[in-house]
Amino acid sequence: MRTDTGRIVHLADYRPTDFVLERVDLTFELDPTETKVEARLIFHRREGVDAKAPLVLDGDDLTMTSLLFDQIEMDPARYTATPESLVIRDLPESTPFEITVVTMINPEANTQLMGLYRSNGIYCTQCEAEGFRRITYFPDRPDVLAVYTINIIADKAANPLLLSNGNFLGGAGFGPDKHFAAWFDPHPKPSYLFALVAGDLGVVEDTFTTMSGREVALKIYVEHGKEPRAAYAMDALKRSMKWDEEVFGREYDLDIFMIVAVSDFNMGAMENKGLNIFNDKYVLADPETATDQDYANIEAIIAHEYFHNWTGNRITCRDWFQLCLKEGLTVYRDHEFSADMRSRSVKRIAEVRHLRSEQFPEDAGPLAHPVRPTTYREINNFYTTTVYEKGSEVTRMIATILGRDDFKKGIDLYFERHDGDASTVEDFIKCFEDASGRDLKQFSLWYHQAGTPQITVSSTYDASAKTLSLSLEQMIPATPGQSTKEPMHIPLRFALISENGSESTASAIAGGTVSGDVLHLTERAQTFTFAGIGSRPVVSLNRGFSAPVTLHFAQSNDDLIHIARHDSDLFARWQAITDISLPILTSAAKTAQAGGAIEVEPAFIDALLAVAADEALEPAFRAQALSLPSEADVARELGGNNDPDAIHAGRQAVLSAIAKAGTEVFRTLYAAHAANGAFSPDAAGAGKRALKNSALSFLSIAEDTPALAAAAYAKADNMTDLSQALTILAHRFPEADETKAALATFEARFAANPLVLDKWFTIQATIPGADALIRVKSLMQSANFAPTNPNRVRSLIGTFAFSNPTGFNRADGAGYAFYAEQILAIDPRNPQLAACLLTALRSWRLLEPVRAEHARKALESIAASDALSTDVRDIVERVLK
Ligand code: ARG
Ligand code: ZN
Repeated sequence: MRTDTGRIVHLADYRPTDFVLERVDLTFELDPTETKVEARLIFHRREGVDAKAPLVLDGDDLTMTSLLFDQIEMDPARYTATPESLVIRDLPESTPFEITVVTMINPEANTQLMGLYRSNGIYCTQCEAEGFRRITYFPDRPDVLAVYTINIIADKAANPLLLSNGNFLGGAGFGPDKHFAAWFDPHPKPSYLFALVAGDLGVVEDTFTTMSGREVALKIYVEHGKEPRAAYAMDALKRSMKWDEEVFGREYDLDIFMIVAVSDFNMGAMENKGLNIFNDKYVLADPETATDQDYANIEAIIAHEYFHNWTGNRITCRDWFQLCLKEGLTVYRDHEFSADMRSRSVKRIAEVRHLRSEQFPEDAGPLAHPVRPTTYREINNFYTTTVYEKGSEVTRMIATILGRDDFKKGIDLYFERHDGDASTVEDFIKCFEDASGRDLKQFSLWYHQAGTPQITVSSTYDASAKTLSLSLEQMIPATPGQSTKEPMHIPLRFALISENGSESTASAIAGGTVSGDVLHLTERAQTFTFAGIGSRPVVSLNRGFSAPVTLHFAQSNDDLIHIARHDSDLFARWQAITDISLPILTSAAKTAQAGGAIEVEPAFIDALLAVAADEALEPAFRAQALSLPSEADVARELGGNNDPDAIHAGRQAVLSAIAKAGTEVFRTLYAAHAANGAFSPDAAGAGKRALKNSALSFLSIAEDTPALAAAAYAKADNMTDLSQALTILAHRFPEADETKAALATFEARFAANPLVLDKWFTIQATIPGADALIRVKSLMQSANFAPTNPNRVRSLIGTFAFSNPTGFNRADGAGYAFYAEQILAIDPRNPQLAACLLTALRSWRLLEPVRAEHARKALESIAASDALSTDVRDIVERVLK
């Protein structure tokens, strides 16, 4: 492991390389422990660069065995090679020259899963962000684009498949037991998009005919025997290709598009040119083994990686500070794709829930950073929900401000102007300014200022003047390195809803700019006055979550119920329900903390049950309404001195009250949706299952018996129903015989299916209460626990910390102490995984003092280690600061 180097990278230091890379030829002689990599690189000195400047190439843990200059062995006096760099001096002033470097690497020993590694007999690569330098010495930065030719030589029996980027050139036998294959990628690309896969895999094949009539071969490679489970991914891929043509006018540009699914992978997936590599969790699905959420994730991630072909690959990032240029934009594109494939409003609700539960805490804590940061110590720690999800929201706001047509013109201009470039956020914004004639200078603060804007709103209706005044004030909290902030341009969609439910955006407006249904908040404080309003309307603000902000708008429950009933924007209806329920949950938590009896307002329960029973609403929406804000949402709302046990107890009491009052409603719902015919993974089927399982959960609370869930478990014919029933059993009746039996049959039935076993671990790791820690520890001893498999580690140890508030935050601090030990054990093997897990402790300062002190001690025990990776060192120091 490379321990901390402490080097901090600053955006302001960016400058182009001294040497221009013209061509890359790589030859791999694959061997599990001694792979030989020969890199032939042609460079020339960039015009204007000092004739004495040396060529500096990046390395990480490399061993060089030979170095040639223009085919002749290089004089050792002219270079310095260390595991971390290769510096070559006395190079030609202007003529191109060729460097041939041979390095030896050990794929089996590569437990970091960065660079070239081998797991389960498959060679594969992960190079983003800086993994290529673990393969060979190279200018390993995204602004160095070159055309690559790849030769792969390997044992034929063990590796019938030899894959790399681009188009297949040819292959042949090579000696008695080996063979080779050659690939050529005509599209210049940065090294982080390089990929190689070798091994023995099964394949699912199809074709896609592009809009200009070219036929593209599609191949998805999976472990032998798993081919049938790749059908949904293939379908999602074809739909993605078609959608990108229809909506963004983007066509695929090689003869072949390949996806390889691997089981040991640090992240979700990777968009390597023409050869995407996926965590198999986001490829494999069938009704027996995948939940509706799994299907939705597969669809979204297949689309995401495919869309990167244009937003990321054809146009890449100049440097890693620009990461949101490809990630934020590509998330926006995959969100739009899923919205078109499914229910737009329900998808939006899910996105916002995710943003609030993941990104808002990041933006409010010690790891807060701008969407476009200006400094980093370890780039792997910036693949964050701020860069991805807030980055997507920022793109969405550009579309909201410009309107559909100008947004389209802007994005078309971006593709036209920057195809083949390594670009910046400024380049991107400029395209929208040029296409629309608008000034986006103030808007661009969204890229530069961290922190979730807080907007305080009040409204006054003047009956005699027939005016409505809406006063808004924005405040952006201080974040690390940014103590003061400028007011931002915040686009808020709105409607004024009259007593009879009709909507308007009003006529004459003073005090600010309103375009259509978008109100533009640009000052720190601003009062918009709407004239000609005949009767007092209810204001529905930030509809569709047009801006990623928190509103503090003291609306009455009557007004919120009016929105929940009448708003034509389903998102706003859901938001109103949330705005009613959150204060109920926070006050229940406070009452629980004080040891009082919790009572829930019947009007709230009635309104919620009315939504649940409303057959005019789609089932998925009703299920979203019934799934109240989570314990983490309540913790965030409370904002400090948090006691996770009290939050849990308070929320459970509210759920009980709803369950008891709504027993009949839930019984009817469950009966109506219990037999939903042949399984289909589509959004409508998923919505029905979500509503049914929500009803089952409330009924199990009301009747306080495992019998219902046990019966549901016994008759489930798909993984959504099966895992939901098991979750109800385990979380509500952990000691019941029915639960023990179900856990045992689940484990036995899916023993050979790691992805399903992950669910078995997760369900048990998230059983509420202080005993969870004992359970997690004993599960780690089970034969099925695989400490080197990132999915397995996340499913047990990660979900314990991220998704079990009462278990992890035990009052005695034992959860944190255990977690610190795990981080220290994982770090030497896989720093990226360790650092990512560690972020579960980012909100420790919001805990009540006793727990906070325990958490601090655990963090300090990590910081005290002198052998930390840069990844973990960076996170632990920022979290403690
Ligand atoms: N570009 C990949 C994606 O968004 C993710 C790569 C993550 N890399 C990392 N070092 N964390 O699809
Ligand atoms: Zn991405």
